Amino acid sequence: MQLTDTEKAMRDGAGGEAVAAAMDLLIRYGNALGAERLVETDNVAGAFNASTPSVRKIAENGMAEVFSRLNLDSDKTVEIPQMAARTCQLITGIDDQNWALQGADPQMIEMQRASEAFVGQRGVNLMATCTPYQVGNVPTFGEHCAWMESSAVIYCNGALGGRTNVEGKESTGAAALTGRIPYWGYHLTENRYGNRHIRVDVPVRSMLDWGLLGYFTGEMVEENIPVLEGNLSGVDLVKLKHFGAAAASSGGVEMYHIPGHTPEARSAEEAFGTSRAEESHVYDAAARKKMYDTLQSAEDRKVDFIMLGCPHNSIEQVGRIAHLLDGKRLHPDVALWVHTPRAIRTVAERSGYVARIEAAGGKVMSDTCPAISRRLPEGVRVIATDSAKQAHYLPAIAKVQGWFGSLEACIEAGLTGTWKGDF
Ligand code: F3S
Repeated sequence: MQLTDTEKAMRDGAGGEAVAAAMDLLIRYGNALGAERLVETDNVAGAFNASTPSVRKIAENGMAEVFSRLNLDSDKTVEIPQMAARTCQLITGIDDQNWALQGADPQMIEMQRASEAFVGQRGVNLMATCTPYQVGNVPTFGEHCAWMESSAVIYCNGALGGRTNVEGKESTGAAALTGRIPYWGYHLTENRYGNRHIRVDVPVRSMLDWGLLGYFTGEMVEENIPVLEGNLSGVDLVKLKHFGAAAASSGGVEMYHIPGHTPEARSAEEAFGTSRAEESHVYDAAARKKMYDTLQSAEDRKVDFIMLGCPHNSIEQVGRIAHLLDGKRLHPDVALWVHTPRAIRTVAERSGYVARIEAAGGKVMSDTCPAISRRLPEGVRVIATDSAKQAHYLPAIAKVQGWFGSLEACIEAGLTGTWKGDF
C-alpha cells in the first residue's frame, strides 16, 4: 500500500507509540483489503468506552490498556494521546442515569464513567448514540468517514452522501489517532452505484411502511445497492433512519438510492451511473403483508415490555410518544422504555416530554438500547416494538417473544397489556 511521507513518519514513530501502533494496524488492514492507499478522514464514530462485563478484567489495569487492547489491537499498553480526527462515541452499554433500572451493578457504571472521562479528555465527543447525525455529527456530501454501527453507516452513505464502510472498534480507534482509513469500498465513487432495482407498487408513507420496505429491501438485495422507485411519499430523514436500519438488519445493505430524494441520485440514471440493475424486485401489497408477518415472533398476545427508539428516537418522535400517552396510564404489567440520544433527552426534558411520558408510567432512556446492553426489565417475556431492527434482533438476543407494529399499535399494547397489531 502506498503511504505519504506523513503516513510513513507516523508509522515510524514520529507521533508516538500509539500513533505508530494505529498506523501499523491500518497498513495491515488496508493490505488485507487490497486498498492501494489510505484516505484522510476527520470524522470517526466508534466504540471507545468500557461498559461490558467482559472488559472489566482489562479495565482493572487502567483505561490506556483498554484502548490499546480493544481499539488498537496492541498487546503492549501504550499512552493514548489526543485524537487526531473529530471523533465521537457511538452507543454504549449502560444508561448513565437509569443504570439501576437496567439492572447494572454500581461497578459497571463506575467503569463506564471512568472510560468516558479517559477518552473525553483525549477529544472523543461522548454522544453515546447510534444516531450521531441527530446530535451534531452530520457528514457533508462526499466526506470520508470511518463509522461503525450498521444503521449509522447506511444513513451516512445513503441519506447523507457521506462515505464510509462498516468499520470496527480497532479500525475506528486507529482512524481517530491518525486521521486515516483505508481507501476502498464505499470511499470509491464507482462502488456506490446501484446494482439492484426495487419497484414500489404499494403506497409507502408512514413510519411503519418505511420500516417494512426497508426490511423487504434487505431481504431482497442482501449486500447490494438498491435503487428504489415508485409509490414513495413522505420521505424525510426520520423515515430514512427507520428504513436504513431495517435494510441493514434483514440484509447487509450499506448504501441505497431513492432518485429525487437521496443526494447521489437526482435521477435513476445518476443512481446507476456506470453500473446497471442485475436484478429487479417488486414491492407490492402481498410483499408488505409478508414482511409484517415475518417480523412477528410472538404468539402470546399478553405484552409486558414496549421498546421504542431503534434507531434512537428524534425529538419529534419523543414528542409524538408524549402526545399519545397524554392523560393515560400504562397497564400495570407493562414497562415502556423510550430510547433517544442523551442530548435529545435533555431537550425532551426541557420540552416537557419526559415528564409527560413518565406521568403515564414510561421511562425515557439514553446512551444504550436493549439489543446492545442485553438488559430488559426483569421477567420480560413478550415485547412489542415499532422497530424492524429491534424486532429482528431482540427476541433472539434476549430470548423473548416479539411483536412488531406501528407506534400507535405499540402504545395501545402498552395501555391495554394486549397486542392487537395493525392488520
Ligand atoms: Fe441503535 Fe440499538 Fe437499534 S444500537 S439501531 S437502538 S439496535
